Amino acid sequence: MNFRSDNEAPVNGVILQAIIDANSGFEESYAYDSYSLKLQKTMQQLFGCWCDVVPLVTGTAANSLSVAITTPAYGSIYCSKEAHLLNDECGAPEFYSAGAKIIGVDGNEGKINTETLDHLLEATGVHGEHECMPSTISITQSTEAGTLYSIDEIKQFNQIKQKHQMYLHMDGSRIANACASMGCSIADMTWKNGVDVLSFGATKNGAMIAEALIIFNPKLGKEIKRMRKRAGHLVSKMRFISVQLIAYIQNDLWLNLASHANKMAHKIYTNLKGTHDFVYPVQANEVFIRLGVSGIKKLQEKGFLFHIWPGSKDIIRLVCSHATQLSDVDEIIKALKK
Ligand SMILES: Cc1ncc(COP(=O)(O)O)c(C=O)c1O
Repeated sequence: MNFRSDNEAPVNGVILQAIIDANSGFEESYAYDSYSLKLQKTMQQLFGCWCDVVPLVTGTAANSLSVAITTPAYGSIYCSKEAHLLNDECGAPEFYSAGAKIIGVDGNEGKINTETLDHLLEATGVHGEHECMPSTISITQSTEAGTLYSIDEIKQFNQIKQKHQMYLHMDGSRIANACASMGCSIADMTWKNGVDVLSFGATKNGAMIAEALIIFNPKLGKEIKRMRKRAGHLVSKMRFISVQLIAYIQNDLWLNLASHANKMAHKIYTNLKGTHDFVYPVQANEVFIRLGVSGIKKLQEKGFLFHIWPGSKDIIRLVCSHATQLSDVDEIIKALKK
C-alpha cells in the first residue's frame, strides 16, 4: 500500500496503449515526427491560444529551462521556500540559467505570501548593479504542500510581475490535480492570468515519461530548441514522448486521472478530520498529517509506505495517485483510526 509518491504509480493503460500504437513503422527523429507536430496543435486547442510546446522528459528540465528563458545569468528568481525548484533540483535551475540567484519567499501552506513578495521586490534596486535583477516569479500549482493558489492569487502575481517587469513561471508538475480540484479551465489557471511559461507535468499523473515546457509569451524562448538540445533533452525518438502527452490530454484523461487521485486524498481527510492533525488543507492529492513518532512506527509496521516529511520527525506525507485503490485508502483510514 504505497502512499509514498505519485512518481511510484504505474503508467495508465490508455497512455501505454498509445505508446504501443505509435510503435509502428518509421518516423522522423528529433521531434519532427507526426506525433510531435500534432502535439503542438492538440496543446494549443487545450489552452485555447498560441503556445510553443517543448516536450521534455523530466520536471526538473521543464522548470530549469523555463527559468533559463525568463532569467538572465545576473537575474533572480523568487519562489516559495518549499519550492521544488529551490530545494530539490540540485542547482539545475541555477546551472541552466548560467548562475541566476534563487530567492525563497516566506508564506503559509507552501505558498508565497503575495504581500511579502511585493515588499521584497519594492526593496530591491537600492544597491543598483550590485544586486541581481528581479526577473522571474515561480509558483507551484498545486504546491509542494498539496495546497492551491486561487485564481485571485494568480491574478495578484500577475499584477506584481507587471509592476516589477518580471515574468511569471508556473511549476505545473501537478497542474492536473489543481485544475480538477478547482474546476477551472487551464487557460484561466495560466496564460489568461499572466503565466508566461508553464512546466506542464504528466508523469506523476499517469504518463510514463513525459513533461512539457509550454511557452505562452511569444517574446520568450526563441532559442529554446537549442537550449533543449544542449540540456540533453532532445530525445531522438520523441514520438514516444509526444504520443503520451496527446493521449494524456485527449478525452479529458488528465482531468479524470487527477480527479480520482484528489478524491482518494479527500476521502482520507473527511474520514479523519476532527481526530487527526492535518498540517495543511487537503486541496489536491496530497495529505500531510502530524502523527507523532509512535503513530508513524505503528503505521510502518502495518506495511504502509509513505514519507516522513523532511525536516520533521512526526509529519507524514500521503500522496494519492491516479492508481491509488479505494481499498488501500479504506485500509489506511482504518489503521489511522486505531
Ligand atoms: C512540484 C514538483 N516540481 C517538479 C518536480 C520535478 O520532477 P522530476 O522528478 O521529473 O524532475 C517534482 C518532482 O517530484 C515536483 O514534485
